Amino acid sequence: MKKSVLFLITLFSISVFLTSCGGGSQPAADQTVKATGPYADLPADIQAMMPRGEEIYKTKCTVCHQTTGLGIENVFPPLAKADYLLADKVRAVAQTLNGSKLDMMVNGKLYTQEMLPQVDTKEDAVAVINYVLNNFGNKDGFVTLAEVQGLEIKPRKK
Ligand code: HEC
Repeated sequence: MKKSVLFLITLFSISVFLTSCGGGSQPAADQTVKATGPYADLPADIQAMMPRGEEIYKTKCTVCHQTTGLGIENVFPPLAKADYLLADKVRAVAQTLNGSKLDMMVNGKLYTQEMLPQVDTKEDAVAVINYVLNNFGNKDGFVTLAEVQGLEIKPRKK
């Protein structure tokens, strides 16, 4: 009886030793593998919308804000390192969604032209603004869909 208990304990310790060894090293190795690339430090759901954001930027925004995000002075405001944009990310989403017709100062220059609505959904507006916030030399965090849930989508002019 005593012997068999001892035997069982020995068997148990060996199996714990084996599993902790074999099973332990793999996950530890996986955990040290970090996501890489320009968006690695952003939450996964934000990273996931970047390809869509990039596509929208390249097809819809470059004509005015330029491929550099620098815009055209006093005509189309910059999105690169733009104090106005960075001051309010939800406002940037709202303007992309519903357009903007204001006299605005961006990095010390005045902009007075109208921008029409650029996208039709909050998802698209959030995706492209997150792309802008993390490109053109910007490294300025992100905006979530939850943060803009309260925005209304204004009726489009016909
Ligand atoms: C036809 C030209 C045009 C296009 C295309 C355009 N914009 Fe604009 N954008 C403007 C103008 C003009 C303003 C200034 C509006 C104002 O004065 O109220 C502006 C302002 C902005 C602003 C606020 C100002 C700033 O510097 O932060 C944001 C954000 C913005 N645009 C994002 C976008 C995004 C994103 C796209 C593409 C989905 C886009 N725009 C496409 C012309 C354009």
